[in-house]
Order: sequence, then structure tokens, then C-alpha cells
Amino acid sequence: MESILEVNHLSFAYGSQPILSDVSFSLKRGDFAAIIGVNGAGKSTLMKLLLAELSPQQGEIKLFGREISHFRDWPKIGYVPQNGAAASENFPATAEEIVRANLYSQTGFLRLGGKRQREQARRALESVNMLPYAKRMLSELSGGQQQRVMLARVLAASPRMMLLDEPTTGVDAQSVQSLYELLGRLNRETGLTIIMITHDIAGAMDTVSRVLCLEDGSLVELNHAQLLDEMKHRHKHPISPKKPDRTYSV
Ligand SMILES: Nc1ncnc2c1ncn2[C@@H]1O[C@H](COP(=O)(O)OP(=O)(O)OP(=O)(O)O)[C@@H](O)[C@H]1O
Ligand SMILES: [Mg+2]
Repeated sequence: MESILEVNHLSFAYGSQPILSDVSFSLKRGDFAAIIGVNGAGKSTLMKLLLAELSPQQGEIKLFGREISHFRDWPKIGYVPQNGAAASENFPATAEEIVRANLYSQTGFLRLGGKRQREQARRALESVNMLPYAKRMLSELSGGQQQRVMLARVLAASPRMMLLDEPTTGVDAQSVQSLYELLGRLNRETGLTIIMITHDIAGAMDTVSRVLCLEDGSLVELNHAQLLDEMKHRHKHPISPKKPDRTYSV
């Protein structure tokens, strides 16, 4: 199976504050991985490392088989940051314009132009049930609606891998369910690889294929029994300094 992401012995600190220590895991094409962990565990930090927004102090990251500093194919990767909509909230653009803006890198600013991009943008908005709001200014949408537009923005560009940082925050229960259904369908039907940071593991567990838990700087893959345990009470995974490779498979 094609390797999409490989992380080997990754360590990262903000100044003197260690966040990740010796993290290793990999994702294959078609994996749908949830990343869980308490506030401040370092989940968003890990995602920023995977996007080269931060550089690790130690270790290696490979995207689509290439060492990250040599990776150039960024349009293959879609990213919805934590509270991403809030950052663009005051941007004077409609939902449709926000989605279309993400298509320029793909097709070139003036090439193909209007019609096809418009169709693509509208389909993406429809997939998150936001087509009726296509002409609304982003600032005039609710928080959850804005979050769905940010998802449509990434989906429209047809990425091969999606990184989602708490995409369901502020989204109502019914929309969360249809979001999981949409992501699950894309994952199954197109082999889209997804990493999703979430605090809603109970809601997501039927959709994701793997669960990675970040705790005390290390990342451990939970098997089914551990996952059930995690949902009953907060999981504390065993940390043995003698065993550098703490990851294991389901
Ligand atoms: N730019 C930064 N500079 C210094 N410290 C930071 C920075 N960003 C985050 N931190 C700290 O690093 C730790 C991990 O933060 P991170 O945002 O990765 O956590 P998280 O697991 O995503 O948490 P949450 O569930 O609240 O989103 C926290 O203690 C945070 O205060
Ligand atoms: Mg976070």
C-alpha cells in the first residue's frame, strides 16, 4: 500500500517546553485516523509539523514518500485549522468566493476561469449543505456554518490527504453526523486519507479506522478494547522509557 505519511522519532519543543518526544507513526492511503488527547497535549502542534508550519528539533517526516523539506506538492494536502473560520471571519467575501479562492492554485488564476470553478465550488458547498448560503458573506454566517464553509473550501480542491483540526467544534449534532458520513464516503470511495483531531471520539469511532492518542508527549495507537476503555474513563497509556517504540497496531 502506498505510504502517504511517515513520521519517525519526531521530537518538538516550544523553547524549553517539550511537547512531543520520539513520536513515530505512519499512514497508508485510505487510512482515516482520529487523533485524541486532552487540551494542550500537542495535537495541533503535531499537525503544524506535518504541514511544515513548524520544524521539528529531531526526527523525520515524509509526505507521499518525500522528505518534508523537499516536498512541493502542497495542493495534494487540504488543511482545516482549529477555529479556521474565526481567522477569516472578517474577510469581505461570500461563502462561494471563499471556496473558489482555494481553487486558484489548482487551475491558475485566469485559466479555465469561471464556469468550471464555480461548479466545483457549488458542489463542495452542497456536500456540506451550505449551497443555500453560497452568496452570503462569511461574517454573516453562524460559527458552525462558517466551519462547514471552511470544510467545503478544502474539499473543493480534491486533496489526496486531509488534515482536520477539530472540524466539528461548534457544529450542531445533525450536521456533525452528516459531516462524518461525507468524510467516511470520500474516504471509502476515493481512498482519501484523513487525519482528524477530535474530542468527539464516541461520535467518530464508527467512521474512523484508527485512533491515535497523544499523551505526555508520546503517541500511542489504541486497539478496540482500549478505545472502549478510553470512552468510559480517561485513558492513561503505559509509558516505558525502556521501550522507545511505543506504538502498536489495532
Ligand atoms: N506558538 C506557541 N508557542 C509556545 N507554546 C505554544 C504555542 N502553541 C501552543 N503552545 C503550547 O503547546 C502545548 C500544546 O498546544 P497545542 O495547541 O498543540 O495543544 P492541543 O492538543 O491542540 O490542545 P487543544 O485540544 O486545546 O486544541 C500547550 O501547552 C500550548 O500552550
Ligand atoms: Mg488544538
